[in-house]
Amino acid sequence: MTFRICLIEDNPKVCDTLKDHFARDFESDITIFDNCTDAISWLDQKLADLIIVRSILASEERAAQKIFSYLYDKERTHLPVLSLGEIDFVAKEISLLPAKFRLEELNRQVIKLLRIDKDKIFLLKKPNYIGFPLRDYFLMKIAPCDLYLKIERRDGPQFIKRIHESDEIDREALQRYEAQGTDEIFVKKENWNSLMRSFLTAASTGILKLEKQQTYSHLEISDFYGLVKDMVSFNRGHSVTEEFIHLLAKTVHAGDHQFKNFYINANQVLKSQSLFDYKHARLQILLGLACIDEIDWYASNKDKKTLIDQLIFCCLLKDLYLQDQEEFEITSLDKLNHAESRLTPEARERVETHAHKAALLAQSLSHLPNGIDVIVRQHHGSDNGVGLMLYHNIGISPMAMFLIVLDDLSLEILKKSGDGLSKANLEVILSRVFDHFSSATYLKIIQAIQRALKEN
Ligand SMILES: [Fe+2]
Repeated sequence: MTFRICLIEDNPKVCDTLKDHFARDFESDITIFDNCTDAISWLDQKLADLIIVRSILASEERAAQKIFSYLYDKERTHLPVLSLGEIDFVAKEISLLPAKFRLEELNRQVIKLLRIDKDKIFLLKKPNYIGFPLRDYFLMKIAPCDLYLKIERRDGPQFIKRIHESDEIDREALQRYEAQGTDEIFVKKENWNSLMRSFLTAASTGILKLEKQQTYSHLEISDFYGLVKDMVSFNRGHSVTEEFIHLLAKTVHAGDHQFKNFYINANQVLKSQSLFDYKHARLQILLGLACIDEIDWYASNKDKKTLIDQLIFCCLLKDLYLQDQEEFEITSLDKLNHAESRLTPEARERVETHAHKAALLAQSLSHLPNGIDVIVRQHHGSDNGVGLMLYHNIGISPMAMFLIVLDDLSLEILKKSGDGLSKANLEVILSRVFDHFSSATYLKIIQAIQRALKEN
């Protein structure tokens, strides 16, 4: 479906930017006017889905009000209006953006006003066949739709049907394709949502089976985490991503209560064949749960459930956009400068922006505990989530500071406990971590962790 947008704006630069933006991001038809009179005569004859109006134009000081009065007279106030810039009258039907706005803010408002659902936005800009990592199809038993391989031909790519809808997924065939260098399996665009749903069903069924058997397999949960990572990088904000992250948080929460003892839990994670990314996130959750009682702001807070949920969701979300182990290990500006020559420009970009992107992801998901986006954005100390810091920032949220220490500690544990983690080697690791920090606020957190893990 193409949206019809009427833009009333007299700054040619803004008009050009928005014209490209709407064509690219919303497949919309945009008609632009630099004054209200022309816009109104157009609106008299044409239908629009959304009006975007600069609140003050050179030719009209109260442009947004004029448009709203027109709609009111014509009894068309159901037509959404977005004002660019403040207005000095009250009309709850008008949405506002500041005079200078970011395109992301504009997107959020437009999505809300046009009532576009998240799943449709993803599909708006996609080609007819969409690929998803082959490794994830191993988690699925039955093909929810026809599955295709992409073959590059001289006259362009061709998509060949290899697995039919409702057929059992042949693991050997998948392995063969993988050995031949195929890393993605494609579905038709119209089947994308059903593919995503099937992944969710496969993961939920797998987890339910584990729960029934009362076993806790880190490897299986790690596959599931890998699937969430792929889903996020392919499909930010899809409704299924949201359900996945909630299911994952619930599973992790349940698993970590299986054994009270931190060392038993941590060794199970370390000895499993799980993904590095999963071990990294999971260790931070285990450490956090084992130590949070000793942290003063937690002890004095009445809403402990929210804080625990914040801890779990932040650890699961904050590094979803990182890829290689080396990227996880770059946690400061110093380390980034040292790694500079080995990093590709894409890897550097991921390291520097992953906190910001994960915060945007958190904002796009519903029913998360309050404040997740802020903590995720600050999880390397930077206020806007972009770049790394030379010194440990103490002007950020206490949970973000706690996570900075947990991140450092989990990386040291992953490096130094190949044969398992004991109280003795954790003490050595903790003293190393102590040397990484100089600010009293952070040292206090490490001391609290030392106390908690001594008693565990
Ligand atoms: Fe990070």
